[in-house]
Amino acid sequence: MAELWQDVTPSRVVAFGPGRANLIGEHTDYNDGLSLPFAIEQGVRVTAEAAGGDGLLVTAVEHQQHELFPLSGWTTERSGDWRDFVRGAIGELAAAGVALPGGEVEIEGDVPEGGGLSSSAALEVALCLALCSLAGAPEPADRVALARLCSRIENEWVGARTGLLDQLASLLGVDGHALRIDFRTLETRPVPLRLGDWRLVTLDSGERHALAASGYNERRAECERARQLLGVESLREVLPEDAVRLPCPLDRRVRHVHEENARVDAAVSALEAADLDALGRLLDASHASLRDLYDASTEAVERIVERLRARGAAGARMMGGGFGGQVIALLPPGTQVPDGALEVVPAAGARLLEVS
Ligand code: GLA
Repeated sequence: MAELWQDVTPSRVVAFGPGRANLIGEHTDYNDGLSLPFAIEQGVRVTAEAAGGDGLLVTAVEHQQHELFPLSGWTTERSGDWRDFVRGAIGELAAAGVALPGGEVEIEGDVPEGGGLSSSAALEVALCLALCSLAGAPEPADRVALARLCSRIENEWVGARTGLLDQLASLLGVDGHALRIDFRTLETRPVPLRLGDWRLVTLDSGERHALAASGYNERRAECERARQLLGVESLREVLPEDAVRLPCPLDRRVRHVHEENARVDAAVSALEAADLDALGRLLDASHASLRDLYDASTEAVERIVERLRARGAAGARMMGGGFGGQVIALLPPGTQVPDGALEVVPAAGARLLEVS
């Protein structure tokens, strides 16, 4: 990718930010825990062309909408749609000292919006890479810092109080690999995802409601409360014997985090041993924990999990924030991909596709 970065300021750039799937390690990122996500082939493509002026004319192709965004004197008011991401990217890049030129930007993508495959991170990442490049700014050497910047767009401009899972997966994804992320140190390690004839698919529960945001925020607040009561830096340090001192349901939340972290390393070992049956059992255990200890499942999600198991999945679990959204399943060789399911293949992380 480095060769795409030029000494001269380009006049046209195309950047791609992938969506992500998360194999295992859910609701652990904001608890300094472990996760094992991967970037997928689907994502968001941003084309940016310098055109003078002091604004960016941005077209959201799928929405058939466009809008002119000023490069200075912007407001932080929210629209509740793609515009918040553009305002956030302009604002955060400006705050980081990137002098954006006026121009035209086109956004298009093939990752389902709001469906749990992180179209949001894909958009933030593609926008930031494209706009940095168009500004002639050097390729951000520190992609973890760029992930933090993208996460600020999500937290402060879009208003979703999510962790760093999605942005790190999108920016640091490695073709054919999952990424073991340690959120305490932000160290990442690519783990080969050798599936042979097995397949990973996601199936949408179709459920989207306000509960997803409120449920997610409530779980975060419960973890924060548990952390305070135990007087620890983060739930990463908490052992099961400490958890029993907590009132219900905080004890169950903490148990989930502790056991889910252990499952991430067990999943890495299963992959290293090419034991995909064991990986399937870990997905099932993760789901049971998210349902019974974290109370993050819904009837619609349970129906999808059951459907996937009935079709022969070796393991299936809710993926992402929960309270609706996607289910990921591991299908043994010869299992038919259920109608409406999307095969997810571990792909390369965000990149510039063209610089001219
Ligand atoms: C959402 C958030 C992530 C993470 C997951 C739960 O996808 O965006 O930061 O917290 O939920 O694992």
